[in-house]
Amino acid sequence: MIIKGSTYINGEIVKRYIGIEEGKISFVKRAIKTNEDVFEWDGVILPAGTDMHVHFRDPGHIDKEDFYTGTLSAVHGGITTVVDMPNNDPPTNNLKRLREKIKQCSKKACIDFGLYALLSSDVERMMDETSLFKVYMAGSTGAPGRGDLKEEAKLVFDSGGLVAFHCEDETSFKQPGKDLKGYNRERPAESEVKAIKSLKEWPEGRKHVCHVSTERGLKVAKSLGASVEVTPHHLFFTHEVMLGPFGKVNPPLRGDIDHFALWEHLERGEVDIMASDHAPHLETDKTESFLEAPAGIPGVETIYPLMMNSVAMGEMGLSTVVDLLCTRPAEILGIKKGEIKEGYYADLALFDFREFEPIMSNRLHYKCGWTPYEGFRCIFPRHVISKADFVISDRSFVGSKGEGEYIF
Ligand code: NCD
Ligand code: ZN
Repeated sequence: MIIKGSTYINGEIVKRYIGIEEGKISFVKRAIKTNEDVFEWDGVILPAGTDMHVHFRDPGHIDKEDFYTGTLSAVHGGITTVVDMPNNDPPTNNLKRLREKIKQCSKKACIDFGLYALLSSDVERMMDETSLFKVYMAGSTGAPGRGDLKEEAKLVFDSGGLVAFHCEDETSFKQPGKDLKGYNRERPAESEVKAIKSLKEWPEGRKHVCHVSTERGLKVAKSLGASVEVTPHHLFFTHEVMLGPFGKVNPPLRGDIDHFALWEHLERGEVDIMASDHAPHLETDKTESFLEAPAGIPGVETIYPLMMNSVAMGEMGLSTVVDLLCTRPAEILGIKKGEIKEGYYADLALFDFREFEPIMSNRLHYKCGWTPYEGFRCIFPRHVISKADFVISDRSFVGSKGEGEYIF
């Protein structure tokens, strides 16, 4: 297959022919002579995205999402690689469960996927199947907090693996908040900062700080040499938003100052990646009462389309967005994706900057059926290619269940 169009290469948009063979990019050229059919695209050709933080609820809560609907949603939003979290029911904290999860998810995944294992005493055996581990320093949805895992982390670090930290310090938590402002007071900025600071007591290695929500947290994480992740919900919302329990998430939505600071640091290139922390819950779970509602917001299908709108509106540079959603996550995972370059996997998202639309929950593919971004302007990709095959063609899914491979 050959694709021709305005292609994103090293921060620039240039006219190129992209040759694709056996899943990979075989050439990127200015001009070619060929008798083959060439697929011409009139918009921009970008690398497809990698979302390093999703909760597809499989196994445990497939009423909320499963690995098929999760990956189907991802690919409609231009994401062709996801890494799923281990706070399943039961949690993915031993080799047997990890192997079972790999097996079951392989049957359902439409796109490539990786899996975090929950760091535990079974770490050495789990290292046969993954190099990605998760630590919840404080309790969050479906996961009790545990910080006493430094020796286990050392084993991961010594083998070159990555440990992703959910950084909140439980001893800094206050009394339960009854609304979004109260929830921000309950799990305050200090709790995030304190947890991130404590990472210096952990062994040296590849530390990744999930969903940083405060400016101070971000600065401390960078000073410790960790990679830093920011979510779309902390960028697009503050605790002033009228979402009630639908905006309840860990760490909480913050105030204006942190919110604007995240945008600034993002634009300055001081954040490594964006990830959705796609954490779907059913509307019925969310409407019980604020106190009872589980924390978590869906977002895997809208992360790239929202950021493309920010580019179109001049709020963010295109290269910043591609770095955050494509290039850096692939680099961190050590996979040949996220750049349009010979030898890299042909994972591409074809957008047209003229195609704006409002986000509507009934057009998304989530099982939970809602989005906090209802009505937000965005740009979805018209076509998505995953390892040389069209998986989205003209906005419709043309891939298949089970086609995604486990990456490790
Ligand atoms: C996540 C979930 O629901 O799985 N919730 C959340 O608020 N982010 C768990 C987590 O990542 O903390
Ligand atoms: Zn999460």
